[in-house]
Amino acid sequence: MENGMPQQITDAGRLSEQYPNSVGEIQDRSYRCRQEPGLMTVHGHSTTRRAWGKGPPDSRSDVIDFVRSSYLGLDNHPAIVAGAIEAIEAHRSLHWPRGRTRLNFDLLEELEELLAEIFRARIRVFSSGMLANLSAMLVLASGQLTGGKKPVVVFDQYAHISLAYQKPVVAEGTRMATIAHNDIDALERMCREYPVVAYVCDGVYSVGGCSPIMKLRQLQERYGLFLYIDDAHGISIFGHQGEGFARSQFPQALGDRTIIAASLAKGFGASGGVLMLGAADHEALFRRNSIPYALSMAPNLAAVGAALGSCKIHCSAELGQRQRRLAQRIDLFDRRIATAEQGNSLPTRTITIGSEANAVAIARELLDCGFYTLVKLCPAVGRGSAGIRLRITAQHELRDIEQLCDSTLKQIVKTTGKPYPLR
Ligand SMILES: Cc1ncc(COP(=O)(O)O)c(C=O)c1O
Repeated sequence: MENGMPQQITDAGRLSEQYPNSVGEIQDRSYRCRQEPGLMTVHGHSTTRRAWGKGPPDSRSDVIDFVRSSYLGLDNHPAIVAGAIEAIEAHRSLHWPRGRTRLNFDLLEELEELLAEIFRARIRVFSSGMLANLSAMLVLASGQLTGGKKPVVVFDQYAHISLAYQKPVVAEGTRMATIAHNDIDALERMCREYPVVAYVCDGVYSVGGCSPIMKLRQLQERYGLFLYIDDAHGISIFGHQGEGFARSQFPQALGDRTIIAASLAKGFGASGGVLMLGAADHEALFRRNSIPYALSMAPNLAAVGAALGSCKIHCSAELGQRQRRLAQRIDLFDRRIATAEQGNSLPTRTITIGSEANAVAIARELLDCGFYTLVKLCPAVGRGSAGIRLRITAQHELRDIEQLCDSTLKQIVKTTGKPYPLR
């Protein structure tokens, strides 16, 4: 990684050894990369080389990636890649330059029908999770989802930026508030004070942790609270068919006071975004009145084909195998390094370091040792709250996790002069 020299990165592609696939040749997760000067951003280029190991520990030739949110390791699954190629070949086109209210590929309809079965909801697909959220916030603020009465829209402090970004627009349309993370008491007070309240949060947070869905449901039953839950990091990794952390905690019928949003580009392994809707009139609203839905490009055919490939995996026994593999790896990590997230069965872990300079130094050392991790800097919480953030996936080998833990603990001592946990 020194001097911007290309380096080979391998993202633990060995899962395919155990899960034979439909297109024969297995693709690995190696790619050439270049590090941006002064940043830890890596630009990679996929190769077709098959890499089954990361070489001798000190060879510096391979890097194991702990930054991607591909929790089940589906993003380079042969069935998903094949789905994208087949869709393009079938239609000989990437997309039709026409709003989807006028003209749609038949495959898009097929995808929405399959996703409706997986998520047990009415489904609208978007070209990204960001666009799904963009589409929904304006409609929510308008009151059209809450019987024509404008709700007070309450954001969790940690709601994803694709939601928080729209606070000014929401505030222009209705009353808006932000409450502390998972502050159910504050939310209940709002429910008592205002006749119509909508709460906007993530199901599983990208920064770690999750929403107390059952408590939110209790507020919904008691006060009619409307819930908008972005479960981008919760789908696929939970539920019999990968319906997700949030959806699996709701009854068969989602009802008319809940919308669950998600990105198809994380655990799902494809590309695009979805809204899971429980009411026919809500679906009609998005079909007719949502500008980002109607007038921005629908997911392109490669994305649609990839998502169709992922649906097949979601409806097969392989999904459960991968979910169990992920759980096993999270458990192994938790037995090696204690974090605030220990035991929560979610794939994100943050190792608290404190000093920003130390966190950056440790991440750099880890990269040199062959582990690509994220530095978590949190200006909102204040200085001295930095850490090393990791995304554990089903595609990591157990020994990748063990070596990462050993190297991290060693680098912490080397950099700070103290053993973990730092006090
Ligand atoms: C919680 C959450 N919601 C939405 C998005 C946006 O999804 P997409 O990348 O599909 O636009 C992200 C992406 O990081 C996310 O973490």
